[in-house]
Amino acid sequence: MGAKVKKAVFPVGGMGTRFLPATKALPKEMLPVVDKPLIQYAVEEAFAAGIEEFIFVTGRGKSAIEDHFDHSFELERMLQDRGKAEMIEVATSMMPRAGSIAYTRQMEPQGLGHAVWCARHLVGDEPFAVLLADDLILSKTACLKQMVEAQSRMGGNMIAVMDVPAEHTNRYGILSPGFAHDNLVEVKGLVEKPKPEDAPSNKAVIGRYILQPEVFELLEKQEPGAGNEIQLTDSLAAMIGGQPFFGLTFEGERFDCGDKLGFLQATIAYALARDDMGEGLRDYLRELTPTL
Ligand code: G1P
Repeated sequence: MGAKVKKAVFPVGGMGTRFLPATKALPKEMLPVVDKPLIQYAVEEAFAAGIEEFIFVTGRGKSAIEDHFDHSFELERMLQDRGKAEMIEVATSMMPRAGSIAYTRQMEPQGLGHAVWCARHLVGDEPFAVLLADDLILSKTACLKQMVEAQSRMGGNMIAVMDVPAEHTNRYGILSPGFAHDNLVEVKGLVEKPKPEDAPSNKAVIGRYILQPEVFELLEKQEPGAGNEIQLTDSLAAMIGGQPFFGLTFEGERFDCGDKLGFLQATIAYALARDDMGEGLRDYLRELTPTL
């Protein structure tokens, strides 16, 4: 039913103040979980979902991200000369085809809604995905792929949702749920970061969206909301009713890598899942446990 989703927007302009001092000179999206930067996980997830064009909304001090998705001839030459050709594959495995990656700059930190709006000309008049690299999702099937499949059946807008503890509603966009069927829930309302006593539910928006291009017209006129920022959630709320709008309770475990504890949990979960270090880490954790 829905047109094929070919483009993804990665808002990567945020300052990462929650991770200072690590993020003083390093973009927070380049922080590695085990050995891969957060942004590469997001790009790989989009790739697995069939995305063909990758649009980054960046900002000052983020050029390391551009370098990451490009050749480093010095590095590749050095690896070749030292007989480590297999590492070249590791260093270059996730590079979108030349011309399928585009960068635009947000120029002013005015919020997520503003960041997405900055991509309007690059997206044009077609449905598109948004991925927030802070939200890392460990799953059997890439979360965005699960969403693309569901959205192709339902059409309209789709967001990833997850139940959160009632006391955490002020960290998320929260939805008013309508009818629910299997892992889909109708979105009847959306509010950004409500206090627990004002929250319509404990169903939170996680940083994966499939959106119709009409959102750009709403973002264009969007007044600042929570935190005095242009909120994507507010423009999405204005789209409810006009077209199908569903939340998908995805299969997988989500880690908030914008938070230090969440980041640490992600590191442990991803390392435990790895063949080359899972066992070693498991032994270490067992050694530690009696002392905790
Ligand atoms: C953003 C969105 C929020 C969403 C969250 C998911 O908030 O504004 O609606 O629930 O991402 O991680 P942020 O975490 O950027 O403050």
